[in-house]
Amino acid sequence: MKKIIIASSILSANFAALAQDVNVMKRAGAEWVHIDVMDGHFVPNITIGSLVVKSLRKATSLFFDVHLMVTNPEKYWQDFKKSGANLITFHSEVECDRKRLVEDIKSSGIKAGISIKPKTPVSEIEELLPCLDLVLVMTVEPGFGGQSFMKDMVPKIKNLRKLIDENKYNCVIEVDGGINSQTSPICIKAGADVLVSGSYILSAANPSEAIKSLLI
Ligand code: DX5
Ligand code: ZN
Repeated sequence: MKKIIIASSILSANFAALAQDVNVMKRAGAEWVHIDVMDGHFVPNITIGSLVVKSLRKATSLFFDVHLMVTNPEKYWQDFKKSGANLITFHSEVECDRKRLVEDIKSSGIKAGISIKPKTPVSEIEELLPCLDLVLVMTVEPGFGGQSFMKDMVPKIKNLRKLIDENKYNCVIEVDGGINSQTSPICIKAGADVLVSGSYILSAANPSEAIKSLLI
C-alpha cells in the first residue's frame, strides 16, 4: 500500500498555544503541519501572517505546508518562505502569472503547489501539472474549518490521479476539507497522497488514534 501523509491543519488549534498543539500533532503522527493563511479578501476570514509562521518554525522541525488563501500570493509568498515554509500552495483562481509564480517558488528552493476550489475544474490547471510539486483539491469552500466533505469532488481526485500517472508527472495530490475516518478512505481510494485534517484530529480525545483511523 502506498504511503499517505497526514497534514494536520492548525486552523482548529488553540491559537494561544500553537506550539503545544503542533507538538500534539507531531506526537500523534502527523508529518506535515498545514498552515491556512487567509486574507479576508480571497476568503471571508482572516487567520495568520508570516510572523506567526516564523515563531512556530522555532518550535518544530515538521514540514510546513502553507496554504495561501490570499488574493495576491505574488506579493506575500517570499515572507512565508523566509519564515520557514517548506511548501507554498496558492490558488488557481487568483489573477497572476501562475507558471511564473510556481517557477519562482521552486527556484527559491522549496516546493510549489496550486489549489483548486470546488467550482474550479481540473482542466484549469492541467497545463501546469508538469511543473507542479502538488495539487490541492478543496473538498469544502475555503475559509473555515469544520465543514462537511463535498463528495462530488471525488471525480476530480480520480481524474487528477489518472492524468498524473499516465504522464508520469512528479506531482502529489492533497485533499483538504472535511477529512475524517469516513471520508479519508474515499480520498485514498480515489488517489490522494496527502490528507489535510483539522477539526477531526484536534477535537479528538486521542489525536493519535484519530490519525490512525484516517489511514485504515
Ligand atoms: C479550509 C482550510 C482547511 C481546514 C480544514 O479553508 O483550507 O485546511 O483547516 O479543516 P477541517 O479538517 O476541519 O475541514
Ligand atoms: Zn487548507
